[in-house]
Amino acid sequence: MLHGLIRNMCGIVGHVSGGASLRSQEVVMGGLARLEYRGYDSAGIAALGNELQVRKAVGKLQNLRALLKAEPLAPMSAAIGHTRWATHGTPTTTNAHPHTAGHLALVHNGIIENADALRVKLHSEGATFVSETDTEVAAHLINSLYEADGENDTLVAAGGADTQSPAAARLARALLTAMRQLEGTFTLLVIHEDAPGVIVAARRSSPLVLGIGEGENFLGSDVLAFAEHTDKAVEIGQDELAIVTAENIIVTDKDGQVAQPKYYQINFQTEAADKAGWPTFMEKEIAEQPRAIADTLADRFDATGHLALDELRIPAELLRTIDKIVVVGCGTAAYAGQVARYAIEHWCRIPVEVELAHEFRYRDPVVTEKTLVVAISQSGETMDTIMAIRHAREQGARVLAIVNTPGSTISRESDAVLLTHAGREIAVASTKAFTAQLAACYLLGLYLAQVRGNKYIDEIEDYMQKLGEIPAKVQSVLAGAESVRQVARTLAEESSVYFLGRHVGFPVAMEGALKLKEIAYIHAEGFAAGELKHGPIALIDEGVVVVFVVPTPRRPELHAKVLSNIAEVKARGARVFCVAEEGDQAAAELAEAVFAVPPAPTLYLPLLTVVPLQILACEVAKTRGLDVDQPRNLAKSVTVE
Ligand code: F6R
Repeated sequence: MLHGLIRNMCGIVGHVSGGASLRSQEVVMGGLARLEYRGYDSAGIAALGNELQVRKAVGKLQNLRALLKAEPLAPMSAAIGHTRWATHGTPTTTNAHPHTAGHLALVHNGIIENADALRVKLHSEGATFVSETDTEVAAHLINSLYEADGENDTLVAAGGADTQSPAAARLARALLTAMRQLEGTFTLLVIHEDAPGVIVAARRSSPLVLGIGEGENFLGSDVLAFAEHTDKAVEIGQDELAIVTAENIIVTDKDGQVAQPKYYQINFQTEAADKAGWPTFMEKEIAEQPRAIADTLADRFDATGHLALDELRIPAELLRTIDKIVVVGCGTAAYAGQVARYAIEHWCRIPVEVELAHEFRYRDPVVTEKTLVVAISQSGETMDTIMAIRHAREQGARVLAIVNTPGSTISRESDAVLLTHAGREIAVASTKAFTAQLAACYLLGLYLAQVRGNKYIDEIEDYMQKLGEIPAKVQSVLAGAESVRQVARTLAEESSVYFLGRHVGFPVAMEGALKLKEIAYIHAEGFAAGELKHGPIALIDEGVVVVFVVPTPRRPELHAKVLSNIAEVKARGARVFCVAEEGDQAAAELAEAVFAVPPAPTLYLPLLTVVPLQILACEVAKTRGLDVDQPRNLAKSVTVE
């Protein structure tokens, strides 16, 4: 048995209509479709009709939809749904959520760390487990506490008479007591046959938001779950519980004391979750990059002409004392950090380290009050990055987050936030979030250079002006993308592709390789071009495809070296493709095809050179007939370590 190893990241949706209709099913299925980016191994729904009804299916949501057609649910007063991403164990119908125990059903996001111990205890008390999941343990625990309620008069009176349902109050008491026994992270939505029209929910270190409707209410692990229905939301805090009916929301703290709900307005457009005519979200998001970069750079000067990062809450005096920067992030976000290192060290003369967030705290890094830790994350919910910033703050470091999701855990737990304005990114493979992260890193570097006096105001202005020209240049790369797509269609049968770059082209090469791996399932590796003859060149043979990110000819010391590397692999029979600056004749003569980008300052080139590589991966995956937006085994937010 894998027990607690069956972990999930998952999307959660709940809806209460109060009446008897199929509205909750529609809302929950619609919400799951919008949250499918979080995981898609299996999905399920549980509804409160006259009795508890559950439907679950392995695979994408369309399988659950088909099942609901074949085995329709009866009209319901409330429903909860779940889309799952498991890291261990086969995604089976039995392991899919919702899980049931007695007359209750629940969905869960997170990990119950003491599930094994609880399972043994509950089993000895008579519980029978059918799945391998930690979630089923939570279901049995809450059920047994619900059944035992009344015998234990120390239980608090959560919700009290306001719920107008003794069963709802009893369920809330059971969940509050369970929370004291559960270790780990969780968002739980629970329904019970005794309490029609009620969902009881709680969270610890895992996201949960409520949406307020008229005569109906919503729950989700993300506002995207219900943003098409309402723009009024309630944030549920750490260890808080909510009792949700169609007309009412009661929020309590962990002791069952009623708390004031924290209302807020949802301020992003739900259309962001639609493809707007594009065949895939990834293509739409690649095309949105000029806007994502421009929006991230917009309104950054104050009346005196100084660069002003309004949301940055670390005082300038403190930034002047920083003696080291450590950038943490995972995957694509970490590559953005690697580009940032070149810019920040060059402009500010501060040493910059870049570390994968999941490695950071385990190497016992030297971090002091004078260290600025920069955490980069699109979702703001990546658990590895969250753990890294917690570790950094424990050592006294200041943490600045570059995130795309306002209100996310990383933004809340950091000392300062610099928001990227890429808009909602739905495709699993990150594209516009990456270029927006690069833009934010440049802003940070220039801001530090300004407050620390490394650059004069006119120099900053000049850098900013050139940065402001980048969105139009990205647009021109997009306009010329057909040549990239043509090449991509010839690469669909390749078994390995290598990406090589130097200087800021090195992280871009790694990002290009990551994109191809994750969506086209082709083995790809990114190397520093200079590393080639220290080993990787042994991989080069007749017909092997190598993509070079060529530096600008205006930096001859870099350019000439990469041209030599191209010659070296060509001499061994490689097929060479280059991303190079327009008019780079030398690259054009050596390569089978050149993907041209307009000239730009060296440090800004990644904003342009990454774009053909995104398009290349996307088109290869499409040619192979793969699901570009939801590649196998991956999920958009990696909310487990
Ligand atoms: C790759 C990709 C991932 C993420 C990584 C971090 O295309 O999307 O490598 O960049 O999982 O995610 P965030 O930025 O949400 O912390």
